[in-house]
Amino acid sequence: MKETLLEVIPQALIKEKIQELAETIEGDFPEGPLTFIGTLKGAFIFLADLVRAIKRKEVEVDFVRVKSYGYSDTSKGEVTITKDVELKLEGKNVILVEDIVDTGLTLAFLIKHISLHNPKTIKTCALIDKRERRKVEVNLDYVGFTLERGFLVGYGLDYGEKYRHLSSIYEVIKSE
Ligand code: IMP
Ligand code: MG
Repeated sequence: MKETLLEVIPQALIKEKIQELAETIEGDFPEGPLTFIGTLKGAFIFLADLVRAIKRKEVEVDFVRVKSYGYSDTSKGEVTITKDVELKLEGKNVILVEDIVDTGLTLAFLIKHISLHNPKTIKTCALIDKRERRKVEVNLDYVGFTLERGFLVGYGLDYGEKYRHLSSIYEVIKSE
């Protein structure tokens, strides 16, 4: 199987969108500390760029890592934590940062999990909202791009651990 990468979101457009997202977030939280939690590994580049667009001194960063099982249509998705948040989240304004929301199972699980830490607020931020395979409705407060379908790589997103380092976002096209 040959893989060809088709550019779908160029680097310049991602940069522009991140600036917009950061401005919206700052508008919603005009002052005070913000705690950003990225989901590893996919969100590492997005989170790094997003927090650098936030213009205030009080910004905290942490990560969670999850493992997902059973994404076939017949099985129920199951999500487990392999690396938990280490910061204290109680009373904080938390923004959960995902690279891409597909079925929604990961984010739905994480919202529940983070709620147990009693933050003051939880907002969700996804670079890409991919609609076609959504299984559970999750509330997305900040969305970069909405796409219907396609397997995407680059800018943190991988296909079998490849392509995370690319600066733009591409669709993987497979052919014989
Ligand atoms: P969900 O639980 O189905 O919403 O899956 C979310 C996770 O699946 C994302 O954080 C990604 O790690 C992975 N994923 C879903 N779609 C894609 C894609 O198109 N490219 C790369 N990873 C993806
Ligand atoms: Mg991910």
